Amino acid sequence: MRVGVLTGGGDCPGLNAVIRALVRKGVQEYGHEFVGFRDGWRGPLEGQTKQLDIPAVRGILPRGGTILGSSRTNPLKVADGVRRVKENLAKHEVDALVAIGGEDTLGVAATLSGQYGIPCVGVPKTIDNDLNATDYTFGFDTAVNIATEAIDRLHTTAESHMRVLVIEVMGRHAGWIALHAGLAGGANVILIPEHRFDIDEVCGWVESRFKVRYAPIIVVAEGAMPKDGELVTKDGTLDSFGHARLSGIGDWLAKEIEKRTGKEARTTVLGHIQRGGTPSAFDRWLATRFGLHAIDAVQDGDFGKMVALRGTDIVRVELSEATAKLKTVDPALYAEAGVFFG
Ligand code: F6P
Repeated sequence: MRVGVLTGGGDCPGLNAVIRALVRKGVQEYGHEFVGFRDGWRGPLEGQTKQLDIPAVRGILPRGGTILGSSRTNPLKVADGVRRVKENLAKHEVDALVAIGGEDTLGVAATLSGQYGIPCVGVPKTIDNDLNATDYTFGFDTAVNIATEAIDRLHTTAESHMRVLVIEVMGRHAGWIALHAGLAGGANVILIPEHRFDIDEVCGWVESRFKVRYAPIIVVAEGAMPKDGELVTKDGTLDSFGHARLSGIGDWLAKEIEKRTGKEARTTVLGHIQRGGTPSAFDRWLATRFGLHAIDAVQDGDFGKMVALRGTDIVRVELSEATAKLKTVDPALYAEAGVFFG
């Protein structure tokens, strides 16, 4: 078989580990050949390829990013996109396509597979961990480790100056990184998109923290919003989708806390540092297992499926199920963290 591989959406530590596992098992055990498509769905759309064989995957296991490049191109939103993808797959004699991506990339794979008969297998990736039907996505553990280390460092400087330190982490729609890193780093307030926060309550936690002579650390997901969304709108920090603008909510919080409590506050926006660099051991392990199981699905001709982690098992689920809705933080799970607030 000739197997196409692409990586789409925001990059994520562990993508190269998946590619390596696919190619190693595919070539060694099944005798497959591979063709890499460049820059997500742009590759099959525009016929841009990269050689993908055993030498090409040598040494890439610990490397962040993706050797194939990535983009957010969506062939379903491009005129004649499906026909062009089909033509290019035929031109490169591709029998099956492995798409490694998040909700958008896998949503395209689900449609191409379900409606247009293009044989796709999906592999879930996102640092946000918000993909349905899998317990974890690779990249998340690395991002949480990076955010936790940053919180540890902020504690000491916050104490030295008796300041409020706000750290904004990624997560437009789901607060998984904020919740996990906040708990691991001993944050005094964690704010997530799933739960609109009350700014008066946040200021109350800040003040009670200072009463025990300790400077508070606030972890906020980039998509978190106050109950009164108008507060943010006034400062012009809403994007055209009505979401808090990237890198906006942390600054807004620090300013608002200073204004309301008189305490000095500073913000750190962690940004793409959470997505770059070498994957953690857990992410290398998960990404490798996803790659091994995805090539098994290809070998079995089991298309329209995504590999997923359930407990310690890797299973296959329908791509359509995986992309039907986002996996957000359960209110009970968030409530658990509340005991540490203030
Ligand atoms: O990969 C998902 C994500 O990390 C989101 O948490 C974040 O909002 C977004 O990507 C940033 O995307 P970009 O790199 O395109 O600005």
